[in-house]
Amino acid sequence: VSRNETKGARIMSDLDQQLRKQAYEEVNKQKEVVESDPYRLAYHVMPPVGLLNDPNGFIQYDGVYHLFYQWNPFKTEHGAKFWGHYTSKDLVHWEHQDITLTPSDWFDKNGCYSGSAIEHDGKMYLFYTGNVKDENNNRETYQVMVESKDGVHFEKKGVVVHLPEGYTPHFRDPKVWKHEEFFYMIIGAQSHDETGKAVLLRSDDLENWEHLGAIAGAHVGPFEDFGYMWECPDLFELNGQDVLVFSPQGLEPNGIYYQNLYQAGYVVGNVDYDSVQYKHGDFVELDRGFEFYAPQTTEDDKGRRIMIGWLGLPEEREDAHPTIEHKWIHAMTLPRELKLIDGKVYQLPVEELEQLRGEGVKHEAVELGEKAQALEGVEGDVLEINVETLETVTNEITIHIRNHANLVYNPIDKLFKLDRISYVDGETVEERFCHLQQLKSVRIFLDTSSIEVFINGGEEVFTARIYPDVNENGISFAAEGEEKVTIEAWKLK
Ligand code: FRU
Repeated sequence: VSRNETKGARIMSDLDQQLRKQAYEEVNKQKEVVESDPYRLAYHVMPPVGLLNDPNGFIQYDGVYHLFYQWNPFKTEHGAKFWGHYTSKDLVHWEHQDITLTPSDWFDKNGCYSGSAIEHDGKMYLFYTGNVKDENNNRETYQVMVESKDGVHFEKKGVVVHLPEGYTPHFRDPKVWKHEEFFYMIIGAQSHDETGKAVLLRSDDLENWEHLGAIAGAHVGPFEDFGYMWECPDLFELNGQDVLVFSPQGLEPNGIYYQNLYQAGYVVGNVDYDSVQYKHGDFVELDRGFEFYAPQTTEDDKGRRIMIGWLGLPEEREDAHPTIEHKWIHAMTLPRELKLIDGKVYQLPVEELEQLRGEGVKHEAVELGEKAQALEGVEGDVLEINVETLETVTNEITIHIRNHANLVYNPIDKLFKLDRISYVDGETVEERFCHLQQLKSVRIFLDTSSIEVFINGGEEVFTARIYPDVNENGISFAAEGEEKVTIEAWKLK
């Protein structure tokens, strides 16, 4: 190392110190205004200030779950991202940790973008995308390795992957895993023909990576054309199948589907690691609601595949979320256990979430009718509600939520709907749908300003931010003809 490089490294680390200091100052300065927000969530991961986006580096290391996140501490807008850090012993109670990464080096000066974590030889390694923009706004992308001996202190080791031939600099979000004797990395990419791809790399030491090529995307496998960019790929085994989760950009709305600006979903298939081929089926959206994007999974010591998504989207009108008046925006979804059932990914809130349950009520065999009825103990803004149908549903059933959102199942059209009042104008009703053959159960997690709905044990999921009046706590149930359901509810701590 020449003297100049040493000096360069020291200057950069001064910048690192300075950025950390500024971020902590911002956290302290805005603490009161952030915490006075009635829409501050009760049991979801949020940024202490500023903007949170993708979950990153989700891993269980030494018995502790680590969840890092894309973070702009200085604004409720996107920008040069930091990696914030939370840890948890139970996936329910999260503790904020020191800042993990700041955009302080030449290879990440415009953002430490998304990436993942892996354990190897007792150490934790992070891989992320260094985002760089030059004076003319031209993008550069570097995949960077970070080492940690304890999950507390993190050291950037430098760039391990440069942009290969054939791709634009939209090449990011490395997810790393081990399969047999090799490490693999999958990266979200855009090829020169401006189509989205998932690109595979291989390594035997985590430092030297061989580019194996695209294993999924337009003109690779079944997709003719499937968006202009794929973000945040994640490839893992579930029930003997290889599931690829990714967030494609540029899909046109297709009937009731692909209604959000960007999608997040999966394909199921089989990877042949020798011939570097991935045979897979059709794309399925993971979530049918409004705000869900860039999910990431990890496997824990109970052998569960757990996914957390960004309860947000990079929308045009992010600036209309009311929380920005309180200097913060976005959150994480609840952790969800994934199961593959009949070729479909089911999502179940992890069982640890039952710890949140406080006082509960159960109303057995409630007869629903046209007049919406409220039930004793089933009200509030931080609440879990479980509705089980007792017979095949033949009439439309509606659950009204806080005079702001509705869940409706129509057994004739076989459609399930979530509607809400738009946060942009506080007036327009927006709707999202999915097809549903039969309604057996609906499990709803309400937080002060979010809703997550798990239908039929996770067969379909709707996720959204909702901003009802803070004093509107009513929940009511109706059906267009007689329907019998059992309803349980718990206030959540
Ligand atoms: C997805 C994404 C990633 C990128 C990160 C930047 O939301 O655009 O592709 O790494 O956010 O914050």
